[in-house]
Amino acid sequence: MRERFRVVGGARLVGEVAVVGAKNSALKLMAVALLAQGRTTLTNMPAIVDVRIMAELLRRLGVVVDYDAEAGVVVMDVPASLGHRADYELVRALRASISVLGPLVARMGEADVAVPGGDAIGSRGLDLHAAGLEALGAEVHVAHGYLVATAPHGLRGAEIRLEFPSVGATENILMAAVLARGRTIIDNVAREPEIVDIAGMLVSMGARIDGAGSGRIVVEGVDALRPTEHRVLPDRIAAGTWAFAAATTRGDIEVVGGVAEHLGVPLRCLADAGCHVERTARGFRVAVPDEAARPAAFDVATLPYPGFPTDLQPFALAYNSVAEGSAMVTENLFEARFRTVQELARLGADMQVDGHHVMTHGVPLLSGAPVESSDIRSGAALVVAGLVADGYTLVSGVHHIDRGYPRFEASLRSLGADVKREPDEDWYE
Ligand code: UD1
Repeated sequence: MRERFRVVGGARLVGEVAVVGAKNSALKLMAVALLAQGRTTLTNMPAIVDVRIMAELLRRLGVVVDYDAEAGVVVMDVPASLGHRADYELVRALRASISVLGPLVARMGEADVAVPGGDAIGSRGLDLHAAGLEALGAEVHVAHGYLVATAPHGLRGAEIRLEFPSVGATENILMAAVLARGRTIIDNVAREPEIVDIAGMLVSMGARIDGAGSGRIVVEGVDALRPTEHRVLPDRIAAGTWAFAAATTRGDIEVVGGVAEHLGVPLRCLADAGCHVERTARGFRVAVPDEAARPAAFDVATLPYPGFPTDLQPFALAYNSVAEGSAMVTENLFEARFRTVQELARLGADMQVDGHHVMTHGVPLLSGAPVESSDIRSGAALVVAGLVADGYTLVSGVHHIDRGYPRFEASLRSLGADVKREPDEDWYE
């Protein structure tokens, strides 16, 4: 049965909320575990369905996986010999499955990973992953909907320059290069904190890596890695969500476990717009000092880290929809990532899309209505918008939100919001 959130407008979110491990790191760290035979443990894992899907994918490769969602712990017992196929049904459900490509080809000399729906080499999505593995000596082709990479005689170090600092491609190439013979230099890599987290785990397994977090990573290949125990870094996108939720509802939230350094640009935008932003002993706090005054609208252009994250773009739209003044939101990473706009318009937001720009004109109050989530972040942003709408807002497609936010409605209620999960009775398939 599909579910929806019933969000009562008019709430000012006040209090503290904790963030746990980052989804976008946790899933890749599970793939990292494939690189070493034996028992690897991950802690601070988020309680989200994506971890279950990744666990199932690893099981089908022969790994014994134990996931205690309540404790946030995943234990993986990796055998000496692994399968090499990631099926379409799992890859379709979880695009991050593609991160088993690098580890499998490095350890087993072969990987067949289904091409996620909507992607094709040469257009969108996997060309940089493929080119990187080819540079390391793998043969890569697509057959019957699968990306097949083979390296029967092992991988060898190479100099690689990414055309674009893709997060996923950086991760796959890094996870393959650690077991390649000799030195690999990867230039123009993604600098996201999640890359630093993955590199940190690999180093604790015996890998030799320099430069993670900068634009150039240098890897000295080793023969084998050993299992490890690793704590997942805090989720900066969840932390940023709460920062925007505080600003949009003119509230006051301490994000416990949030790392302000990982949100440099977004927090600076909020501070410049008139919000109070401070580091605390346990994380950071975002507050609107005068709840009667609307904070100012601000321009946003998404960019690879350390730029403004594309995953926070829907929250910038929700914020600007009720902020004072007009602003421009520009999406530079993904095409067609503006589905939030049409739903915000249903709530009375005044916005126009022009190519990869959205012009926003803030209104004092939105107007509650039924809306539809199209992905994790747009869904959560619509809930935040519902909090600043007159009346109530029904946000359907809660399963999207559940993929990124463990117990989202419980966190919102603890901050004073009136949000309920209910069956989506009006949904016709
Ligand atoms: C990751 C995050 C996602 C975030 C994104 C950008 C996970 C599970 N997901 O996605 O939440 O929004 O980073 O910060 O970690 N591209 C190519 N060819 C490639 C690879 C990418 O053209 O081989 C393009 C993509 O189509 C996209 C852009 O590069 O337009 C960014 O993609 P990338 O950085 O790879 O994002 P993901 O790793 O997929």
